Amino acid sequence: MRKDWILSIRQTLSECIRAQGIFFTCRFKREHRPPPGNGNTPLYILGKDECKMKKYKTADLHKKVRGKGISTISVHAGEERFRYADSVTTPIVQTSTYAFKNSAHIEAYTRHGHAHFEYGRYGNPTEKVAQDRLSALCGAEDCVIFGSGMSAITTTILALVKSGDHIIITDDAYKKTLEFCSSYLQRFGVDCTIAPFGDYAGLEKSIRPSTRFIVSESPTNPYLNIFDLERLHDLGKRYKLLTMIDATFSTPYNQCPFDYGIDIVLHSATKYLAGHNDILAGVVLGRKELIEEIRALHKAIGGVIDPHCCYLLLRGMKTFALRMEKHNQTGLEVARFLQAHPRVKRVYYPGLESHPHHDIAKAQMTGFGGVISFDIKGALKDAKRFLDNLHLCYIAPSLGGVETLITHPAMVSYYSLNRKERYALGITDTLLRLAVGIEDASDIIADLDQALRAK
Ligand SMILES: Cc1ncc(COP(=O)(O)O)c(C=O)c1O
Repeated sequence: MRKDWILSIRQTLSECIRAQGIFFTCRFKREHRPPPGNGNTPLYILGKDECKMKKYKTADLHKKVRGKGISTISVHAGEERFRYADSVTTPIVQTSTYAFKNSAHIEAYTRHGHAHFEYGRYGNPTEKVAQDRLSALCGAEDCVIFGSGMSAITTTILALVKSGDHIIITDDAYKKTLEFCSSYLQRFGVDCTIAPFGDYAGLEKSIRPSTRFIVSESPTNPYLNIFDLERLHDLGKRYKLLTMIDATFSTPYNQCPFDYGIDIVLHSATKYLAGHNDILAGVVLGRKELIEEIRALHKAIGGVIDPHCCYLLLRGMKTFALRMEKHNQTGLEVARFLQAHPRVKRVYYPGLESHPHHDIAKAQMTGFGGVISFDIKGALKDAKRFLDNLHLCYIAPSLGGVETLITHPAMVSYYSLNRKERYALGITDTLLRLAVGIEDASDIIADLDQALRAK
């Protein structure tokens, strides 16, 4: 069909939907978008070749490769410059379905692939803006957004395996991810090896002809271990495996696994990306062909994010760079304070020289985030007394939001295990995980100090 016809149909569709009070994002194919920087287009999104093995530090990468700084990308990427009613913010398109104007319109969409939203489970304009922003932020060709991080992880894994396949996961992955891989996947005939984190030789030995991919995290929870992404990429390349990293704790502000050739990156966007402890969301990012496979299953499984949540995600992302800078600064300051505290036995924070993976963290990351785990001196009763005396920090799971949260893994995530089982996993009675928010570091420190000293 002639290009001018296509454009005029697009214009008609757009006007028709605008007339119904619906904001419509014209879904130009990327190659048809005008070059970045004219003020009317989404910001530049990385191409496949540019994603591969660029050895930039993440902060430089944002400037050199993406053409814009990370703060600018966080605020603008994915958004049309002028949108419904010329609003400065992205409208929430609160609809579960989309109307066709007439039968010709249906056929233009179904037969000729014209841009149109069809049904809420297959996409939404507010979600599309969030997708484009996340792809730009993370340096990915494409992404899919989900209603939670776990939905992103489980759908991604299911989309990429079949019965008879084998996968490898490292042992300090998020507890629910481990549970899904080691028990639920077996029901579908997918075998799983849990490899000890950091044992690269052991990891290599566990690779079989049927191995499809290796999945890990960096940093991990609760010990903030760092995976050497170059070694992961090397294994993937030599054995022709897909490599997958849950980068929730590092965020695209501090680390870009695509720089190292990692195939798939996952985030629980519930955490730093949304950043306000008010929504659940997840995202999987990667090359277009892989993401298409995942998107197809996502449409069937249906773990979608709703438009209002997408708006909150977009709004959260506007301050992403500012928040991350603060999390990084406060994280380091609080970690140093805890390390020097007489009531603290040990601190786990990759920004501290005492962390076993500090060198890899320094090479791979540009900041270390806001999560700090620490063991206090004493026994369970001392950990309880410490928690009970906190005034500013909320006792709550999760991380990456503006409020400082603290959790006691033994009593929360691992409560179902007995002491012996917990200790075998390194979850002691006195281990605490702090996720600093964006309050003043001095106030967080004062709260921790008085609670540590409480009798
Ligand atoms: C590293 C990591 N991945 C995934 C998840 C799951 O994300 P969600 O809670 O958004 O489902 C979490 C949750 O805490 C997490 O910490």
